[in-house]
Amino acid sequence: MHREELRARLERGEPLVLLDIRPREERAEWAIPGSRWVDAYDAVKAEDFRPLDALDLPAGVPVVVVCAAGKTSALAADYLRSRGIEAHSLEGGMRAWSLAWNLAEIELPGAVRIVQVRRAGKGCLSYLVASGAEALVVDAALEPEVYLALAEALGAQITGAVDTHVHADHLSRARRLSATLGIPLYLPANDRAQYPHQALSDGDRIQVGASWLQALHTPGHTWESTCYVLPDGAVFTGDTLFTEGVGRPDLEATGDEARARAGALYHSLRRLLDLPSDTLVLPGHSAEPPDFDGRPVAATLSELVARIEFLALAEAAFVEAVLARVPPPPPNHHRIVELNEAGSWAGDLDALLDLEAGANRCAVR
Ligand SMILES: [Fe+2]
Repeated sequence: MHREELRARLERGEPLVLLDIRPREERAEWAIPGSRWVDAYDAVKAEDFRPLDALDLPAGVPVVVVCAAGKTSALAADYLRSRGIEAHSLEGGMRAWSLAWNLAEIELPGAVRIVQVRRAGKGCLSYLVASGAEALVVDAALEPEVYLALAEALGAQITGAVDTHVHADHLSRARRLSATLGIPLYLPANDRAQYPHQALSDGDRIQVGASWLQALHTPGHTWESTCYVLPDGAVFTGDTLFTEGVGRPDLEATGDEARARAGALYHSLRRLLDLPSDTLVLPGHSAEPPDFDGRPVAATLSELVARIEFLALAEAAFVEAVLARVPPPPPNHHRIVELNEAGSWAGDLDALLDLEAGANRCAVR
């Protein structure tokens, strides 16, 4: 089964059993929400199907078997079919699933409409922000077609692609979106991106219909990191502030630089906390792969103050606490940063999937 077919079935809420047969360690790293794990990988590879026989599968419900790349799952699906079960294998496995996505609508008072577009297999969050006949895309992480279809459904035209920073965990699709549609590409002012773009400085605005995004320079996660304030009551925080934590300050940095960035992050977060406390924070990642539940990954600033302990600390304690809790760096981040700075990754997306595979690790929690 192609990932798009599985995506559509999950979005429609159709009953199916997602059977994850990867080794335990891979399952622990990331998984499809709602999937069921069976310790069968080595056995199935050796064509011993007894662990599958032992499963109690609901009658008449299709089974989709998942592994890392789609080979072992195909053996398992063949076997289940030989037993009369409607079984499929997820083509390309979790590697391909990295590109699957789902949606959540963000409710805001007023006329601006926001759709949160989530890479379900990865946790990258991007946004379509529409006002009247215009729309902006923030942190595009999927192919242009996805955003085009969404904008069309809202009766809007995409007029700009905006990134919050140079990403380290996935390939930005902002440049591709901008080139495909012939629309401006907005990036925070930086000396990293080696391709034409419109540089945004603190306070700059991008108009969208009757509203706008206003750049709030928030260095820390990276030096150029910028949040975008929507006056209608939301802020796009990229990897500066998440619903469960704050941005990691250490990628591509020496120890001293990570410390300096953690200090900058402290002051950036103070600036965010100066916004009205009911401002809705719309982050660049979720901690867990977003489910097909239509529930936005979002929280108000006041909810985050109550939830995230780092936000209550004074500067020196904040810096120590953040540096002490940075997770291991995401795999391949040097190469991803290199490609995002060059903006020149070409055509074959499938060849780049290995680079992006795996969970997000941009947050310190
Ligand atoms: Fe990031």
